Amino acid sequence: MENFVFHNPVKVIFGKGQIASLGREIPKGSRVLFAYGGGSIKANGVHAQVVAALTQAGLAFKEFAGIEPNPRYETLMKAVALARAEKLDFVLAVGGGSVVDGCKLVAAAIDFAGDSWDIVRRRAAPTAAKPLGVVLTLPATGSEMNLFSVISREETGEKLGWGHPSVMPRFSVLDPETTYSLPARQVGNGIVDAFVHVLEQYLTYPAEAPLQDRLAESVLATLVEIAPAAMATPPDYQARANLMWCATMALNGLIGQGVPQDWTTHMIGHELTALTGIDHARTLAAVWPGVVVVQREAKRAKLLQFAERVWGLTEGPEEERIDQAVIMTRRFFESVGVPAGLGGYEVPADVPEAIAARLAQRGGLPLGERGDLDADGVRRILEAA
Ligand code: NZQ
Ligand code: ZN
Repeated sequence: MENFVFHNPVKVIFGKGQIASLGREIPKGSRVLFAYGGGSIKANGVHAQVVAALTQAGLAFKEFAGIEPNPRYETLMKAVALARAEKLDFVLAVGGGSVVDGCKLVAAAIDFAGDSWDIVRRRAAPTAAKPLGVVLTLPATGSEMNLFSVISREETGEKLGWGHPSVMPRFSVLDPETTYSLPARQVGNGIVDAFVHVLEQYLTYPAEAPLQDRLAESVLATLVEIAPAAMATPPDYQARANLMWCATMALNGLIGQGVPQDWTTHMIGHELTALTGIDHARTLAAVWPGVVVVQREAKRAKLLQFAERVWGLTEGPEEERIDQAVIMTRRFFESVGVPAGLGGYEVPADVPEAIAARLAQRGGLPLGERGDLDADGVRRILEAA
């Protein structure tokens, strides 16, 4: 096991009816920027619950609507301008990963004197971020309990990830009932995103970290177990509750401590979204099959462990077990409505070349847990996918 420092201060407030506790969690006298997306929270009653909780606590607030999926820098800077003009000092993000990620940048940028884009491209660290609270409505990204944020910029066509401890939420309210209004497509996306988050921290090489392995495997196995009920209509509370907690556990840092990680699928996936607009989770299902073709030898030991412990494959030659584990994973993605492999999506023929060039140009290479994937490796992954 490698050395690590693990500090996750996010207070998780979980379960039905918990939005009412917002008034207790936001410091008295705060002036709140209540930020959300395109309006799903108005249709499902979450907006009304938040307004009631803020009003009851006597908190002053201003609303900012319209943070889009793959949140745009240009939109977020409008929220920053509102917060500055109205002297708002607490950011409340209500929505999915895009709203939460966007609000992390807003919280960091309000008091930032320089060019806020420098925060995203990691040329500057935020100085003093405003405190952030979250009401999560889409289990997927883990953003509610981590320090990461992924921001898109319309002007340059970039989609970049950054992170800073100062933007970890002070609290996150996770009410599974807020997910009842999700379209099936977003539930399936969330299941795949959480599953791949675990794979990126697990499917590398053995690191004598059996606890991290078993934690990762239990999140994977739980996702497989609950997926049919989580996809069912009418929504099932227990399945949605378990999905929500799995997605948070998949990327709150715990399972990845002291072990090698490989974010290749995500790095390529972000480029694919930037180029084509394909949903984040769908890019992961598109790319991952290519990663396991190209990195099969590098990942052999963990692929066999994954085959045995997640998919119950203990018999037959090694090659067959690995093949079967990949097939079962692809079928799992498809079972929640997310096509596996690039062939399931409409993408321009030059995508492998274009993505390899974009990553190389930005200095985003090499990828892989051993740093052995250069531009040619990225191209081969996309061709195999
Ligand atoms: O905008 P509204 O109207 O709210 O609609 C959203 C949006 O259209 C809708 N939605 C959310 N909750 C809903 C709902 N619709 C009905 N009922 C509800 N309860 O769902 C749509 C997608 O929302 P979005 O927030 O974009 O989805 P997701 O949570 O999957 O977030 C994706 C973003 O997170 C980034 C991705 O790259 C992408 O930009 N990620 C962030 C990570 C992190 N911070 O750690 C890690 C991830 O790997 C990922 O990269
Ligand atoms: Zn993801």
